[in-house]
Amino acid sequence: MQKFLVIGNPIDHSLSPELHNYWIKINKIEASYEKKLLNENDLENIVLKIRSGEIEGVNVTVPFKKKIIPYLDELTQEAKETNSVNTVYLDSDKVIGHNTDIAGFELGIRYFKYDVKNKNVLILGAGGVVPSIIVALKKMYAKKILLHNRTQEKVRDLKKIYSDIDIFDWERKIEIDMIINATSVGLNKNDKINLELEKFGKDKFFYDIIYNPPETNFLKDAKRLGHKTENGKMMFIYQAHQSFSVWHKKFPKIDDETIKLIEK
Ligand code: ATR
Repeated sequence: MQKFLVIGNPIDHSLSPELHNYWIKINKIEASYEKKLLNENDLENIVLKIRSGEIEGVNVTVPFKKKIIPYLDELTQEAKETNSVNTVYLDSDKVIGHNTDIAGFELGIRYFKYDVKNKNVLILGAGGVVPSIIVALKKMYAKKILLHNRTQEKVRDLKKIYSDIDIFDWERKIEIDMIINATSVGLNKNDKINLELEKFGKDKFFYDIIYNPPETNFLKDAKRLGHKTENGKMMFIYQAHQSFSVWHKKFPKIDDETIKLIEK
């Protein structure tokens, strides 16, 4: 019986087991996928268990996507580009760290038939998922990527790595086409982002990485102003789908049943 885990802290909210166990079942694979609450000093031990074959693969979530890197043998190109690992597996005795958030973001946007090419995109936030979004947007030929965050220092740190991103400033009057909420503001139902959405003009695309709750105040307000809005559920499903294909060499169908699993 192959064993898979998603590790994080907190981990209770994770819906990865729902998706993976559903795909494991429909593909008749002998495997289990569970969530595990960890502390930072457990990371080394988890990697040892992957090396010994006791655990087949691990998904990594907040706050360990960067912290797990020192314990791994090799990183894929995607993990290197973002300094962020969400999928771990063993390949020829080496423990490999991979990032499927980049592909998850891209496929999630493409699912909604939105073309990022030549668009000016504003990202709100500078946390762990933002490097993956920046890399994906660049891959999709966004014209300009702008960043806005409560703590300025984190934006400046990101600009040191991704030098072609811009720091957002209303004064510069750049027409923004897409606004992404990549902050944790909205995870609680009453959270409100401190930004005047009215100033963005008309017919923009507002995208929230958060999918639970399904409609944050950010999306509610944007919808009220007549904009196109989507939440992060497809990004979440696609990053899981990519991890599944790395481990099991199979791409299960993403159907209504799959989507319903994370809409509970
Ligand atoms: P992670 O790495 O897990 O994404 P994080 O680093 O805590 O988590 O990132 C959360 C993001 O939400 C950050 O951009 C954070 O802004 P700061 O860098 O200023 O902390 C943002 N965020 C969280 N609470 C916020 C709030 N009340 N107002 C504005 N931004 C907030």
